[in-house]
Amino acid sequence: MPREVDKPQLFREGHIHLEPQSQLMELVSDWAKKLPFSQLGVLDLAAGYGVEAKELSQEDIQCIAVEGSSYMLEHGVHDDMRLGFVEEIEFPNASFGGILLKDTWVFLSPTQRHQMLEGVERVLVSNGSLLIISEQHKNHSASYLINWDVSDPKRLNVDDYPSFEAWKEALALLVQCQNREALITGIYYQSTLKDTMDWAAKFGFNCEMLMEHDESHQLAQENKWIKTKGFIAKFTKV
Ligand SMILES: C[S@@+](CC[C@H](N)C(=O)[O-])C[C@H]1O[C@@H](n2cnc3c(N)ncnc32)[C@H](O)[C@@H]1O
Repeated sequence: MPREVDKPQLFREGHIHLEPQSQLMELVSDWAKKLPFSQLGVLDLAAGYGVEAKELSQEDIQCIAVEGSSYMLEHGVHDDMRLGFVEEIEFPNASFGGILLKDTWVFLSPTQRHQMLEGVERVLVSNGSLLIISEQHKNHSASYLINWDVSDPKRLNVDDYPSFEAWKEALALLVQCQNREALITGIYYQSTLKDTMDWAAKFGFNCEMLMEHDESHQLAQENKWIKTKGFIAKFTKV
């Protein structure tokens, strides 16, 4: 089956990380405590195992975790975890003071980002904000596992396309040629400071870059998914 590039990339198994990232949690709970009042509190989108949602709720911050992978929900640690997708936010208008999107922005295609930001804008109260915690990824790319059925598999990053449309075409061709020697293992979309600020502007959010860091920073070092350079952006609904 050809793999489509505009579909959610959901985790199916493995990589169970249940430890909170302490430095990051300080920043996240500081943000959450300053949010405007709302009926439902914080929405943790693509929440994974719900580790951050649980941490927030332990600080008496109401938090609903939504995640698209049933594997992650089965292994989840937070009390209020629901199946759902970032591109289909199914909550009433103006119900959250804050929305957290941690380590997922880079996996969302332009179409998914568009749909997600429409939903975010709708469900946030005014002065509420979306906190995006993300790695930086300068171009669109896919990683490939070459010789995946031999004892020493090599994982290679072979794509590097600044334009999404050009990359999508190239990827579609590669997907057709996919055989037992090469398997696409990950799809990443451009995730730069400029690109992210452009997304905020397109949807009328006020964007603040709260943090930009490289791979040697403690926030990268303690990251449970990928220890690379990143940023934290706050999109406020004005
Ligand atoms: C790297 S994990 C981050 C999980 C969690 N936020 C954390 O920091 O531990 C990315 C998560 O995004 C979820 N995901 C990816 N695309 C999604 C989508 N379209 N809708 C909902 N969840 C999605 C994956 O299943 C996975 O749990």
